[in-house]
Amino acid sequence: MTVQRVLTGITTSGTPHLGNYAGAIRPAVAASRQPGVESFYFLADYHALIKTTDPLRVQRSTLEIAATWLAAGLDTDRVWFYRQSDIPEIPELTWLLTCVAGKGLLNRAHAYKAAVDKNTADGIDPDAGVNMGLYMYPVLMAADILMFKAHSVPVGRDQIQHIEMARDFAGSFNHLYGEHFVLPEAAVDASVATLPGLDGRKMSKSYDNTIPLFAPPAELKKLIFSIVTDSKAPGEPKNAEGSALFELYQAFASPEDTRAMRSAFDEGIAWGEAKQALFDKVEAAVAPMREKYQALIAEPRQIEKHLHEGAAKARAIATPFLAELRHAVGLRNLTAVAGPVVAEKARAALPQFKQYREADGRFHFKLVDADGGLLLQGEGFASPREAGGVVSALKQGASFEMKAEALWLNGDRVAALVEDVDEATLRAALAAFAD
Ligand code: TRP
Repeated sequence: MTVQRVLTGITTSGTPHLGNYAGAIRPAVAASRQPGVESFYFLADYHALIKTTDPLRVQRSTLEIAATWLAAGLDTDRVWFYRQSDIPEIPELTWLLTCVAGKGLLNRAHAYKAAVDKNTADGIDPDAGVNMGLYMYPVLMAADILMFKAHSVPVGRDQIQHIEMARDFAGSFNHLYGEHFVLPEAAVDASVATLPGLDGRKMSKSYDNTIPLFAPPAELKKLIFSIVTDSKAPGEPKNAEGSALFELYQAFASPEDTRAMRSAFDEGIAWGEAKQALFDKVEAAVAPMREKYQALIAEPRQIEKHLHEGAAKARAIATPFLAELRHAVGLRNLTAVAGPVVAEKARAALPQFKQYREADGRFHFKLVDADGGLLLQGEGFASPREAGGVVSALKQGASFEMKAEALWLNGDRVAALVEDVDEATLRAALAAFAD
């Protein structure tokens, strides 16, 4: 079985809430127990510095989030569990990626763009209040992911664009310096819906509508009883669909209990009674973890120990990999002379894809054989990522069709075969990328 590497990070800028637990931590802990999976879960404390400038908040949140993962049953012997800032190779890789990251691509990152759009609407300087941390956020995140060759990155929908950027940087780097990085995929689990908060909108710190995961029982109860409902009286049928209360219940109850609650809604259960039932379910799930959590919080030394061990385990991968990358880009020991002639020759012995931009502003590629003879001429694409996507599909052996001296991929004409080159020659050249 091929091992699947799964990696995700949580920014350490807040207190874990029920939404974080049901949407991210609980499924991640469950996934980490599956055979054939290597899980990398980390505390994204460098990312936290972009969201807050309060040092105590960063420290407190790191402690709380680490304790939450451990209390939720994460087995640190099975997984790689570490704090981002304990891995100095990550900021170093960030720089290597910065040097292949297109500024135009970063200009389009959602978080940065939202800030610029707001400033523009307010009639002030577009970059007012924007720091380079926000701008570079996707590059740091790409370093987190690419460092450990993750295949799959479970994230919320809002993060998909960042994974695509990581693929883009990885593709550019691989193209320039050889195949070092694995291209990651975002894994958005549709069955793990985002939980609604007290007001029915997505539970999020930015809406101030969260229920802290480890609130003491009395506070938990008070918060659950403050969840917004409509004003239907006891006995009046209620709609389970679209009810925040019902969705929260479903996240903590078995399928049978959920079905029973749906009938109870139809039959007009009183809101107070439904809230009590929700509180009972949440409390039953949280109570055993709360005890562990409190014991852990009281022993920060224990948590530090876990994190130090995790960092050593992660660096056992990161340190040699970064050495490989440093060598690849030419940050090399000067006494080990690998002559340019040797390097060029080794490269030239294989067919190659070349990507470039034409005067028409479109992005093209071509495939040349080991002697530099042209085999295939790509169409012009609107963006480098479209061109790169076709190149990597061809390299990875995607099946294509040949019609009218052209190569078609998923119904699109993507390249023209050069005159006098036959299909067999082309296929043989592409096969060279297969291993
Ligand atoms: N940006 C993510 C968030 O805010 C946190 C994060 C940082 C992350 N680095 C990552 C998630 C790498 C997945 C992979 O939710």
